[in-house]
Amino acid sequence: MEKEMINQLIDTAIHQLKYSYTPYSNFKVGAALLAKNWQVYTGCNIENAGYTATNCAERTAFFKAVSEGVKDFQAICVVGGKAGVLTEYAAPCGVCRQVMMETVKRQGKPFEVILCGPDDAIVISDCRLLLPFAFDGSDIPS
Ligand code: THU
Repeated sequence: MEKEMINQLIDTAIHQLKYSYTPYSNFKVGAALLAKNWQVYTGCNIENAGYTATNCAERTAFFKAVSEGVKDFQAICVVGGKAGVLTEYAAPCGVCRQVMMETVKRQGKPFEVILCGPDDAIVISDCRLLLPFAFDGSDIPS
């Protein structure tokens, strides 16, 4: 991924922090998901009084894209922090990693995960590294 594209995704993910709805944790997360067709789908975390009903920023972005018929992706950038301040890298939770793996399985190849902290960004070139031994459709007997 070119540096310019990485920076654009970081800026877009940071911009999403202002839409993050977090009355319970005040931990704000933003995501920018780059589709294969070069469209960028945005996401923020959306909390709920029934805590388990909360949706993470990454899944918001994935579900927005898939619900519009877009299912192939190149990269996702995730940023987050208390009150929207990026004090460290915000690592995707296990459920979001599982959702990422569905894409890998579907499109037949992995995509990049960009995490941006206070000073710099790290690019994980293969999202499968984030969820070894993942559960997938082949684990469901037909
Ligand atoms: N959160 C995300 O949006 N993405 C993750 O991958 C980790 C957690 C959100 C959910 C909740 O609103 C807040 O961060 C604290 O867990």
